[in-house]
Amino acid sequence: MKKRVLSGVQPTGNLHIGNYLGALKNWTKIQYDYESIFCIVDLHAITVYQSPEELKRKILEIAGIFLACGIDPKHSTVIAQSTVPGHSELSWLLTCLTPIGWLERMTQYKSKAAGQETILSGLMQYPVLMAADILLYQASVVPVGDDQSQHLELTRDIAQRFNSLYGQTFVMPETKLPTVGARVMGLDEPEKKMSKSAPGSGHAIALLDPPDLIRKKFNRATTDSNPHVDFETMGPGVQNLLGIYQAFSEVSDDEMKAKFSGMRYGDLKKTVAEMVVSHLEPIQKRFAEITSEPGYLAGVLEEGRARVAPIAEQTVQLTKQRMGVYST
Ligand code: TYM
Repeated sequence: MKKRVLSGVQPTGNLHIGNYLGALKNWTKIQYDYESIFCIVDLHAITVYQSPEELKRKILEIAGIFLACGIDPKHSTVIAQSTVPGHSELSWLLTCLTPIGWLERMTQYKSKAAGQETILSGLMQYPVLMAADILLYQASVVPVGDDQSQHLELTRDIAQRFNSLYGQTFVMPETKLPTVGARVMGLDEPEKKMSKSAPGSGHAIALLDPPDLIRKKFNRATTDSNPHVDFETMGPGVQNLLGIYQAFSEVSDDEMKAKFSGMRYGDLKKTVAEMVVSHLEPIQKRFAEITSEPGYLAGVLEEGRARVAPIAEQTVQLTKQRMGVYST
């Protein structure tokens, strides 16, 4: 039997090249080596208020982007998390054995909670729900960007705690990061991770940005005071641009050096922009085709739900039995 891979994306903001290089690109590559499940995690999205209409629209948009990027719905399962009740059920069961201290230590929680007058408890429980997403399907591999590494460690801690309290139940999931592109930085502020929620029109390249806007954003990207690329002294902005190029093109370190050493920053920005445009244009074309067919994406999500619901139900029943709560 093939091992399972599971990963997810929140249906908030606009998916960007960080999400693509950190996660989606890897998914499309490894999907056939595993039984693959990719979730649109709408229950995670609502840990911060979302406009209901916009959220509904986003879920289908993300499903369209998954397929446009190359997720094959005939082989891989795409689901909206909230359609499989097991995610919420297992999340509660796991919450009951997760110390609050573990959750308070999460850096994403700390940064999201910082400055908020009222911190919703769902924001703190967020990583437990993520652990439930993974453990529900006994996934052994979780391909994500670097910012999710701490959540994956917590998932393993929760699984281990459960297994030692109630007996071997959960598979220990492994984190799979891409070799290049695990942490794409903002174009305007290369010290900060490229993020869906960051303000600023020059911060992120969205996967659906038109080519001219992509070129404009790269043109305005922050570099440093050198006039051209120097691999020894380059600052984070130039390093980020080169990382983006390498992650899209998959060329070797030596080829990168040969191509870019001494290149003026104006030319560097143009070269990177053209590489990104050449990859995103076909994705955007496929997205337009996929979304022009009414009902198609809803059908893919329903098929996905039906395919994995029995697996989820089995894990929930087993977990309940192990914990001694009433199960049928
Ligand atoms: P989310 O929606 O923030 O991001 C989706 C994926 O994109 C990666 N990513 C990045 N990679 C490289 N550079 C960046 N700047 C960058 N920004 C985001 C993320 O690492 C992620 O892989 N908690 C998750 C969603 C989730 C999940 C799961 C993931 C819920 N349940 C179960 C894996 C397994 C999140 O918020 O991702």
